[in-house]
Amino acid sequence: MTPLQWKEILSLDLPAMDEPSQRLAALLEQASVATDANLLAIWRQLITHTEGQFEREDRWMLQTSFSSTQVHTVQHKVVLQVMREGLGDKDSDIGNLPLIRTMTHELGVWFAQHNQSMDAALALHLRKSGYDPALGVLSMPVEPVVA
Ligand SMILES: [Fe+2]
Repeated sequence: MTPLQWKEILSLDLPAMDEPSQRLAALLEQASVATDANLLAIWRQLITHTEGQFEREDRWMLQTSFSSTQVHTVQHKVVLQVMREGLGDKDSDIGNLPLIRTMTHELGVWFAQHNQSMDAALALHLRKSGYDPALGVLSMPVEPVVA
């Protein structure tokens, strides 16, 4: 079963967020059909890709004072920790393939929900504030909340 097929419904109308998500979906697809011989290599690629995707989102949230930064970044951190468990022992080159196969499906389910909730809120915030992810520039800075 395909863990996460990219669909337009997952699009957030923000290429800087949509393109990494499409790549994540493609890597999950590759992992779902991988043989034991190449599953671990694909999982490592997926972790590296996801680290970059989450790091960029975390940075954008901080740069734009996004109100839900804390809960969103904690989710990123926890998911990456769980994904790394698939690599197995630090000194092992074999990984935990049964765990990776289970996580491949679960990550697809989790990401679809994350994309449609937390990422969608972030994309809306970035568009409203006129933030250019490529340049790291705000064209409409968020005004501080006055108590
Ligand atoms: Fe996110």
